[in-house]
Amino acid sequence: MIALYDRHRPFRTLNHMITDASRGTLRSEVLGGAAATPAATPRAYLMCPPEYFAVTYAINPWMRPEEPADAARAMRQWERLRQTYLGLGHEVRIIDPVPGLPDMVFAANGATVVGGTVLGARFRYPERAAEAGAYLDWFRGQGWQSVRVPRHVNEGEGDFLYTGRALIAAHGFRSDPAAAGELAEVFGVPVVSVRLTDPRYYHLDTAMCVLDADTAMYYPAAFDDEGRAALASVFGELIEAKDEDAEVLGLNAVSDGYHVVLAAQATALARQLAVRGFEPVGVDMSELRKAGGGAKCCTLELRGPQIGSERG
Ligand code: ARG
Repeated sequence: MIALYDRHRPFRTLNHMITDASRGTLRSEVLGGAAATPAATPRAYLMCPPEYFAVTYAINPWMRPEEPADAARAMRQWERLRQTYLGLGHEVRIIDPVPGLPDMVFAANGATVVGGTVLGARFRYPERAAEAGAYLDWFRGQGWQSVRVPRHVNEGEGDFLYTGRALIAAHGFRSDPAAAGELAEVFGVPVVSVRLTDPRYYHLDTAMCVLDADTAMYYPAAFDDEGRAALASVFGELIEAKDEDAEVLGLNAVSDGYHVVLAAQATALARQLAVRGFEPVGVDMSELRKAGGGAKCCTLELRGPQIGSERG
């Protein structure tokens, strides 16, 4: 386990060769000086321990119930992820897992939280339907004031990604196209709708990751022409992931504006990130990948005034 986790060392070594001072220079040489140097901001995340994790049904092409997953190994990987966030200075809150909901570990699907408002999820498949209420109950129980029950099918941050200015909303496999309108209504921010086209990349967060308000990484083949054009209109810079990095769910990553926590196996993508001034932090999520999830799937970002020391 330690050895796998330590796979991020090569990334760090690579990045350490680019000192803080030279990072800006490298960026300007590569990018013509247009983009700002990445900077981390502290985040709060909600996570759910994979106590009841199992692959007992198949609702995406990664899931093979005939090749069962190891819950203890998944727990060790998940705990490493949690420790990684804490080590980066982020706050992690925990929701209790519910027996009989093996995918509840994928907290990203539990809600969408922007500016203190919570839009609950409504799952596409009956296997996950009961998770929606468990997540809503958690937010209500923690005293979040503005908690909305959705009208349309939406799988939370699995399909909705916040850039800091706008929301990207995906449909095609899970969330309804109509959920985009509901998002705009609930959060009052511009919503850019995109369609996913490859069943392996059934959630938006398996096909792209927002690195900061102006930068994202994505797998172009997971979108149609219109979607690619829409993304190009939102981001000043788009890093393109290669097949082999998308195939280890390398895009299922979590950025704090500087550190990018991603699959340790996505080595070329890590190098692309380092060249652009981000710091890749590799984690091994291979057991959770058997259910079609990675680091981001296990992580729901909590954004709002409820976040802070007095609620810590
Ligand atoms: N087995 C889960 C499903 O198919 C995986 C969810 C992954 N979550 C995510 N945010 N992409 O729903």
